[in-house]
Amino acid sequence: MPELLEQVRADVAGRVGAGKVADYIPALASVPGDRFGMAVATVDGRLHGVGDWRERFSIQSISKVFGLALTLGLDGDLLWQRVGREPSGGPFNSLVQLEHEKGVPRNPFINAGALVVTDRLLSVTGDATGAVLELLRGETGEPGLGVDSLVAESEAAHGDLNAALGYFISAHGNMDNPVRSVLAHYFRQCAISMSCGELAWAALFLARHGSLHDGRRLLSEVQAKRVNAVMLTCGAYDAAGEFAYRVGLPGKSGVGGGILAVVPRLCTVCVWSPGLDEQGNSIAGVAALERFADLTGSSVF
Ligand code: DON
Repeated sequence: MPELLEQVRADVAGRVGAGKVADYIPALASVPGDRFGMAVATVDGRLHGVGDWRERFSIQSISKVFGLALTLGLDGDLLWQRVGREPSGGPFNSLVQLEHEKGVPRNPFINAGALVVTDRLLSVTGDATGAVLELLRGETGEPGLGVDSLVAESEAAHGDLNAALGYFISAHGNMDNPVRSVLAHYFRQCAISMSCGELAWAALFLARHGSLHDGRRLLSEVQAKRVNAVMLTCGAYDAAGEFAYRVGLPGKSGVGGGILAVVPRLCTVCVWSPGLDEQGNSIAGVAALERFADLTGSSVF
């Protein structure tokens, strides 16, 4: 595995630094674009990494996977009455679709859908960000994992679009908590800092059919299948088709430049490189996952 990861890194070296670092959240704009890290965690308990795989970055939308899994695990399938599970075919922060669909977001990974998930997780736990952090700390064994408050505050200060989504959903009766609280939890959850190694480790329950590291179940097998399916169809937003075509694995991207992918029954892979394409997905990250899937034959197809 170490040689394989070195090969992937060498093969995508020309793409590192391509694209644009997210700057609509000003605190993310200063992240150096030349970083590249990749880690693989296997269900039999091994962790391998290459490059900047131990460096923490802003997990952003990758947090939506953990929020969704927790909500389904704690609250069952009620969530699906409030959010769909179809690809949006549009940008992650689009408002237009919400109007047509009367405040019921297309899927849990676009921002609107994640706000509904956060609202439900807040109702169920009383502390949505705390619940996500507890899961991440428990699975990684890293009690120091936390929120980068500068990033959270920076996003909150420039979060009018997400606020608009939240108030629109609320106007359609699909929000139980005050929009302000839901937004605050959502921004903090997105601003959690983790490394590729920690993310790969924390997400292994998705490769283990829903079982946590100590054998407790977060999700039933069927629920784990469903989370992976929604990652495959919706995890890269309006590039989900292209991601499935090139990588062929359930994946979830974030504008911090991270992408988390799952090889069911075998391993999780996390890659990080901050330069993004037009859809907000890491250019070198997608290329590395494509190369990894092709070299290992691990695509689900
Ligand atoms: O709400 C936002 O815009 C960010 N906190 C997260 C967006 C994101 O990561 C989309 N992923 N590619």
